[in-house]
Amino acid sequence: MNFESVLNAGSYLFKTYITAIPRIFYRSSISLMIDPKGPQRFLQQVLNAQDLESDDPVLGSFDIDDLLGRGEVDVEFIGPYHSRRSSDTRLLQELACLAYLMRVLQPHLVFEMGTFVGRTTRLMAVNSPHDCRILTLDLAQDQVEHQIGEAFQRDEGIPEKDKIKQLYGDSRTFDFSPYYGLCDFVWVDACHDYKYVVSDT
Ligand SMILES: C[S@@+](CC[C@H](N)C(=O)[O-])C[C@H]1O[C@@H](n2cnc3c(N)ncnc32)[C@H](O)[C@@H]1O
Repeated sequence: MNFESVLNAGSYLFKTYITAIPRIFYRSSISLMIDPKGPQRFLQQVLNAQDLESDDPVLGSFDIDDLLGRGEVDVEFIGPYHSRRSSDTRLLQELACLAYLMRVLQPHLVFEMGTFVGRTTRLMAVNSPHDCRILTLDLAQDQVEHQIGEAFQRDEGIPEKDKIKQLYGDSRTFDFSPYYGLCDFVWVDACHDYKYVVSDT
C-alpha cells in the first residue's frame, strides 16, 4: 500500500464518518433509553453506506456498465435476497451483478472459491450457458458447521446441479494447477482475511 492509497483511505474514512459523529454521540447516550435497538440499526446503516455508496479507497470501484458496456439481458434469481444489507451474500446488488456477468460473459468454466451453502454456485449455474461447468471449492465438510452446497444438492431435481462439481480443501494450499489458464471466470469469496484474499486472487 503506497502513500497515496493511505491518504485516500484516510480521506475516505473522514468523509464517511464525519457526518456520523453527532449521531454516534446521540445513539450512544440518551436515545438508548427510548430506542434501545437504535444503535444497532444505525451501525447497519453506516456499514451499508460504506459498502454501497462509496468507492473502495484502495482498489477503486467500477460501475459494471463501464466494464461490460450497457446491455439488455434477463437474469434469473433463485432463493431469498435482501435489497439492502451489508456483508451478506443475499445482497440483491451483488447477486444481480453476478448473474449479469454470467449472462454477458457466457463462461464455459467457472471457478468459485467459497461454496458456502451453494447459493451463488446455483445462481451462476442457472445464468451461465448450458455447457458451462462450475467448480466450487470449500473447506472439508467436517471443518464447517453449514451444509456445503445444500442449495443445489436438494433432491427435488435441480437441473443445473449437473453443471456443478464440488472440490474440498483450503484455498491457500489447494493445488489449482490443473485449472491454470482454463477458467473463464473466477469468483473469489472464500476466507475474507486479507492474506487469503491476496493469495486467492
Ligand atoms: C462468504 S462464504 C461464501 C459464500 C458463497 N459464495 C455465496 O455467496 O453463496 C465463504 C465460504 O468460504 C469457506 N472458506 C473459508 N475459508 C476457506 C478456505 N481457506 N478455503 C476454502 N474455503 C474457505 C467457508 O467455509 C464459507 O463456506
